[in-house]
Amino acid sequence: MHYEARSFTLPTIPGISSRQLEEHLKLYQGYVKHVNLLYTELTELAQNKEKNLHVMQELRRRLGFEFNGMRLHEYYFGDLEGGAKPLAPESALFAALKAQFGGMEAWRTAFRDTAARGSGWLILNYDPVARRFHNNWVTNHDVGHLATLPAVLAVDMWEHAYLLDYLPSERTAYFEAYMDNINWETVAARFAATAAQ
Ligand SMILES: [Fe+2]
Repeated sequence: MHYEARSFTLPTIPGISSRQLEEHLKLYQGYVKHVNLLYTELTELAQNKEKNLHVMQELRRRLGFEFNGMRLHEYYFGDLEGGAKPLAPESALFAALKAQFGGMEAWRTAFRDTAARGSGWLILNYDPVARRFHNNWVTNHDVGHLATLPAVLAVDMWEHAYLLDYLPSERTAYFEAYMDNINWETVAARFAATAAQ
């Protein structure tokens, strides 16, 4: 099993500097590297399962942190590719957010409020069974995921995502900058695939 770090073609992002993005991308590449390292170590340790049982168990638990860190960053950076594009009012995602929250602005406020405290990920999940969204908070990369619910959008609210550009007290400005630069065509396509499950 081997994962390759994705390369992202990022435009100039108003509100998030290229230096900030470059440093952040290095962290993303670190998660990919450590997912691969963990699988390599587990394969080696499996040569003597009896002796290495507890070490292997701990490494598998570590995988949740590294794997989720890898995949969430791929959403985060991937949704900036192509530059800012608005969510089309005729899209299924627009209609579904409007139906549940009353409109895009009301949803965005509720989404932002979910990230009011702490360091981690702000995730918009969709439950295809109940046909409703959850504005969800994930501490670190791995604590608080809603089992089986696909992510529609993932916003990195770790300090490393913005501290080169913003003070800790300015994290809301960073959030707004990220949200203003999303390519919603990408997100709408992801939701369309999710909702069709
Ligand atoms: Fe990050």
